[in-house]
Amino acid sequence: MYKDFIEALNKKYNCSGENDLSGMDLQHYKFASTTRQRALNAIETLETCGFMLDGGGIRILDIGCAYGGFSIETAKRGAVSYGIEINQKLYDYANLNNKDEVYENGNCIFILADATSPKFLEKLPHNYFDLIIVNDVFEHVYDTVQLLKNISKVASDKCVIYYQIPNGNCLRFVAKEGHTGLCGLSIIPPLFWCALTKDKYSSIYYRQYEYYLALFSYFGFDNVAPFNFSDWSNYISKDKVIERISHEYEVVKQTISDNKSSFSNAYSSKLNKELFLFESQLNYDFNELTPLDLTWKYLTTFWTGLAMKKDFKFNFMKSTSKRSFRSDDIEGIEFLLKCDDNKMLIDIICDSKYENCKFDIYLKSMIESISCYSHVNYSEQMHCEWNLTYSGIYFVLIRVIENEEKKNNIFTYPLYYCKENSF
Ligand SMILES: C[S@@+](CC[C@H](N)C(=O)[O-])C[C@H]1O[C@@H](n2cnc3c(N)ncnc32)[C@H](O)[C@@H]1O
Repeated sequence: MYKDFIEALNKKYNCSGENDLSGMDLQHYKFASTTRQRALNAIETLETCGFMLDGGGIRILDIGCAYGGFSIETAKRGAVSYGIEINQKLYDYANLNNKDEVYENGNCIFILADATSPKFLEKLPHNYFDLIIVNDVFEHVYDTVQLLKNISKVASDKCVIYYQIPNGNCLRFVAKEGHTGLCGLSIIPPLFWCALTKDKYSSIYYRQYEYYLALFSYFGFDNVAPFNFSDWSNYISKDKVIERISHEYEVVKQTISDNKSSFSNAYSSKLNKELFLFESQLNYDFNELTPLDLTWKYLTTFWTGLAMKKDFKFNFMKSTSKRSFRSDDIEGIEFLLKCDDNKMLIDIICDSKYENCKFDIYLKSMIESISCYSHVNYSEQMHCEWNLTYSGIYFVLIRVIENEEKKNNIFTYPLYYCKENSF
């Protein structure tokens, strides 16, 4: 049960909830406690793209399942879900999270195994899975070729891989590496991590996007569709992208300078060398790359999308949807997001417990963030609308600001907008 899982998590972090935590502990706790919520968001994105789980019977493999949210939530929707985890402690958390869950049609099974090993192939049915989820896992795996070899054995002919992979070149992660919080670490080759951080951090293998394209393609998943497929490349100017990257790069340099005193000499010296290489590549790319490729390489935090074996026709399903946010911490905020003609509209209803908060509301796409309200005072009902100019996937960010230190971000499910005649 989720409740027991959260209790065990609180015990591990010696807290009674995220309010007692800060820094990287808070980040890791949040990653664990939102395991189910993140799965629901991914399911909604998949459904926006026409990959429907309802109807049941879909066979799903969740590789590197950790706390189990993806396997549990897909099983609740009628899927037969297997979660594979290499780490015994995380495997135990997943089972605790799943304990006493009752599934009407689906089923959820966790297996302790290394997904790059022959054991994985012994424990799982072959030519079987319709959807394989690899969410924030590739960067932890050294032998990605063996992983894909194993995946291709257990995948059915019409299998789709759902991937999310953090991008180490993204300037936000250069300023603060996602797993460790360390400045500059994401551009230092993995070989040096243990030595430079005195064995504190094991390696994360950041790779370029093209590496994954080649890998998927070699194993027959050659139809790769990132979730930013749209006509927006016509709407961004190269000058604007370069201006934004240059600004973020200045932030990186400032952050490095601010943190200098905490670096060892070896770390400083290696980081300076890597930063020099990074900057020359950046200047080269400013001339060579398209605005879209620059955005993908330096501004995109996570590459998310589908890799497919055979042609999978996108059939965008959703133009309207409704839900209440399910997180315990921000319950009491409900919204209805709609896409109507060439407008995106959201109606938000807030509980009075937020009356001392302020709100930011943004429409987000892959390329921009358009504010509707910035630091507005609480109101029981709020309405926003935006005119849409290009096709693509959009979602809304509602930021609830209690004070400068305490901000909660609520991301709505994504909606797809298709401009007439754009395809
Ligand atoms: C960052 S976590 C992502 C967890 C989960 N997919 C999610 O998004 O919540 C990466 C997970 O992959 C697991 N992992 C790493 N290498 C693995 C392997 N070779 N086989 C199975 N699991 C692995 C780790 O133990 C860890 O739980």
